[in-house]
Amino acid sequence: MRKPIIAGNWKMNNTASEGVALVKAIAPLVKDANCDVVVCVPAIDIPAVSEALKGTNIALGAQNVHFAEKGAFTGEISAAMLKEYGVRYVIIGHSERRQYFGETDETVNKRTLAALAAGLTPIVCIGESLEERETGKTEAVLEKQIREGLKGIDDIAKIVVAYEPVWAIGTGRTATAQQANETIGFIRKTIADMFCPKCAEALRIQYGGSMNAGNCKELMAMPEIDGGLIGGASLKAPDFAAIVNYDK
Ligand code: 13P
Repeated sequence: MRKPIIAGNWKMNNTASEGVALVKAIAPLVKDANCDVVVCVPAIDIPAVSEALKGTNIALGAQNVHFAEKGAFTGEISAAMLKEYGVRYVIIGHSERRQYFGETDETVNKRTLAALAAGLTPIVCIGESLEERETGKTEAVLEKQIREGLKGIDDIAKIVVAYEPVWAIGTGRTATAQQANETIGFIRKTIADMFCPKCAEALRIQYGGSMNAGNCKELMAMPEIDGGLIGGASLKAPDFAAIVNYDK
């Protein structure tokens, strides 16, 4: 019922020309995908990659968006700027932004509402740190991120949630499929409680954190996991394509 969505998060990798070469290599490998395919690229790559994606089944995403329509916000990018180049998705609240750039549940909420108002699909990231998991705080941390980050959303099924345990990002240490499934089940239950059970059933929730060609099948076989947000493995065409084609 929920269409799976596999998204690459390039983070701060690939110049525009490198990005164009990468999507040109990915496109033929994923043309028969049964899931939604997205690449979230650095802002400055957007014009060139947008052009290169024309005629493909790969959608374009950004990695951040500001909540104001325009104005004195040096270094920021507005939803309208993204939309002009055909951007459809935007990652919001990635743990790296929370950790290094002062992103909070409040700013995540403002960015998410602004993205929705502009017709972009936010991919809202949540996840606990290793210390939080080891001290039994995972559910409390996620619940706070959900209740504060997602408040005021009219139609929760219009967003995508990415569950990314911070300890699994870039570490090669993936959550087990059972762990990821269980935690995403908790996220869905919390969202059902906050919004409505039917909306929570329709909401797509991805797993992210060291997902790769080797572990994607097992993760994607889990009933709660509706896709992946892929970092390192999205930077190589065959690796990313293997994840997109997990069901083949
Ligand atoms: P890795 O796949 O490199 O662990 O990164 C995951 C991630 O942060 C995607 O947003």
